[in-house]
Amino acid sequence: MNAPVNPPAEIQFGIAWNWQYDMDFVLLLDQACHRAGLSSYLVNHHNLQEVTADAEHERIKFRWFLDRASDEDKNFLRLNELLHAHGTAFLNAHHHYLRANDKAEIHRELLAAGLHLPLTLILPPHDRQPSVDSKLIDALAKPFVVKPAKGCGGKGVMTGATRVEDVTCLRAKHRDQRFLIQQHIEPQMRGGRRAWFRVYHVCERVIPCWWDDRTHRYAEFTDGDAGLVNVAELERIIRVIAKASGLDFFSSEIALDQQGRYIVIDYVNTPCDMRLQSKHANGVPDAIVHQIVGILVGHVQKQIAGSPRLCYRRAHVNHHA
Ligand SMILES: Nc1ncnc2c1ncn2[C@@H]1O[C@H](COP(=O)(O)OP(=O)(O)O)[C@@H](O)[C@H]1O
Ligand SMILES: [Mg+2]
Repeated sequence: MNAPVNPPAEIQFGIAWNWQYDMDFVLLLDQACHRAGLSSYLVNHHNLQEVTADAEHERIKFRWFLDRASDEDKNFLRLNELLHAHGTAFLNAHHHYLRANDKAEIHRELLAAGLHLPLTLILPPHDRQPSVDSKLIDALAKPFVVKPAKGCGGKGVMTGATRVEDVTCLRAKHRDQRFLIQQHIEPQMRGGRRAWFRVYHVCERVIPCWWDDRTHRYAEFTDGDAGLVNVAELERIIRVIAKASGLDFFSSEIALDQQGRYIVIDYVNTPCDMRLQSKHANGVPDAIVHQIVGILVGHVQKQIAGSPRLCYRRAHVNHHA
């Protein structure tokens, strides 16, 4: 579909995306906006330049925006900055994203908030301090986990590390990053599954599910799981992370350890992978994707209804890249 010749003055919900596998989620959001009577506009690399120029000259305005692109593609950052400067409300404000995206930074905050985290040693970037005191590593229980502060999708993470060389080697590959050297957490088994969870926080709502750390397969909670999992504790933890991070929409990985403690392993994931399970074996259960879409669009709808603008001109069509 083509970009508009005369863009509407104001769009209620804009969504930037750049990952081909995000298309289903983005289209579901777009359709849900349509059903809710919200104008929506999708931005990807086809129309980014044009939308950025329109935003710069205030030919286009967005009331709300979800940026699922600038974390990966820096070309989207300019639009993000412009919209922030022009007063667009964001689901996941960029400054919160930047802070939460640094595992070393958020680790300290979650620790201060009293959450259980794996015992962790934070090392400075290789660029700042190339050598590691081997005594520090020798003192750790083996195996341990080595992860860069700004990785995602498991990139650069080594589980099963035992030697100081494992640490030096990884640090040398990601020289500008702090590193977390972490106690390895082995989850309990519950009802025949590894007690490892992915918990979503979506605009104050919490959606927990099973997520197998080995197969990466998700499974919805059922009523029967109430006796196996302390759902209230998962909720409490994710709300603490939401408060500390300031983010609206993210997921965390939480494991139930051998001592019966719910330990946060991966503190904040955003943008969340929203591939549908019906199309990808390790995708998110479709029902959860639909639920998240409903919550996001409902949130924007409610916020807009609660803060009408006097000179607001309703956009009358949906334009897609
Ligand atoms: N402390 C830990 N104990 C056991 N496994 C871990 C630990 N930290 C990470 N892992 C494993 O490594 C994977 C990637 O690490 P994670 O912290 O989730 O980084 P990323 O943000 O790149 O996803 C996790 O999904 C988990 O399987
Ligand atoms: Mg992870």
